Amino acid sequence: MYRWIRPLLFRLDPETAHEWAVGALATVQRVPGALALLSRAFAVTDARLAVTRWGLRFPNPVGLAAGFDKNATVYPALAALGFGFVEVGTITPRPQPGNPRPRLFRLPEDEAVINRMGFNNRGAEAAARSLVRQVCTVPVGINIGKNKDTPNEAALDDYRRCLRALYAYGDYFVVNVSSPNTPGLRALQRAEALGRLLEGVLDEARSLARETGAPAKPVLVKLAPDLDVELMREVVRAALDQGVAGFVATNTTVDRTGLKNRVHAHEAGGLSGRPLEGRATEMVRHVYRATEGRVPIVGVGGVFDGAGAYAKIRAGASLVQVYTGLIYRGPGIVRRINRELLALLERDGYRTIDEAVGADA
Ligand SMILES: Cc1cc2nc3c(=O)[nH]c(=O)nc-3n(C[C@H](O)[C@H](O)[C@H](O)COP(=O)(O)O)c2cc1C
Repeated sequence: MYRWIRPLLFRLDPETAHEWAVGALATVQRVPGALALLSRAFAVTDARLAVTRWGLRFPNPVGLAAGFDKNATVYPALAALGFGFVEVGTITPRPQPGNPRPRLFRLPEDEAVINRMGFNNRGAEAAARSLVRQVCTVPVGINIGKNKDTPNEAALDDYRRCLRALYAYGDYFVVNVSSPNTPGLRALQRAEALGRLLEGVLDEARSLARETGAPAKPVLVKLAPDLDVELMREVVRAALDQGVAGFVATNTTVDRTGLKNRVHAHEAGGLSGRPLEGRATEMVRHVYRATEGRVPIVGVGGVFDGAGAYAKIRAGASLVQVYTGLIYRGPGIVRRINRELLALLERDGYRTIDEAVGADA
């Protein structure tokens, strides 16, 4: 059906199309019984796809990447589309409008998108109010960031405030230091700065866990694809030293090599989709090697089909995420990836996703 809807959506400005999609999901969520129907149409249920990490059970390894449900309002409907987990955010402590529009561009010839949204969101308290009201059938990750006007020296306070406001509602948390759209943010990704930041963030997570009497929830770090391998190794080492539970690889890229689209190729922002695929998969492989498989990796960047998801899993990802693929292929992409993954597992004689993780690392 998306074949007919897509041309209409693509006639709209990309951000308007996005708002329409979020609005449609919010409407569906309000109809009693609608999510069960959606789930029956979209979800692939098969024990071979289930993955357990950090004590959490993911019914399948295909998640929705951060940036779609920025205010944590429609994640139950997204779960009903068959996603094995949903990452909401990026959420900052205070609400902020983000960059001026237009700030989202389609590059159809490249099956890519450039965005410079700049963490537009309603802030941590509004997100908490939404999260407390809604239950979800799959794990929910919360991606946290700092406000644009917070200097890097005070960034730790912002991440701490987010964690405090949202800790009760997330199954895992992602420290985002890799968006290219908040000036200076990626400087926090340098090993020394990251080590200091994570020391404080993990300290906060541990004290929140003590207050609730539960084990500490996993805190992951999201990496940029533009880090060179040597730097990435330092960053990974610094993060592991602080007790990080895993990595999300990768965010969008500032590289513009090889794009066919001439209209938007040089817009400022982060590029996602097909052109990022190979680079993101290589990054997963490098992170897997650098960590010797000790912590789970969430592989993201240009996943459009089962083969793409499988390549990331074989490179070392325990879970994968999709965003731009959803824009180009529609909601049926999750079902398709999961079905193709099952066929690929069968072809290679694996009984579960777990057996394939890191096979090509
Ligand atoms: C419009 C848009 C907004 C995004 N916003 C965020 C964000 O707020 N936080 C974040 O960590 N990543 C954000 N991302 C990056 C995605 O989570 C993902 O890492 C990246 O798009 C690569 O995956 P893809 O090729 O499947 O889209 C955004 C991506 C897009 C396209």
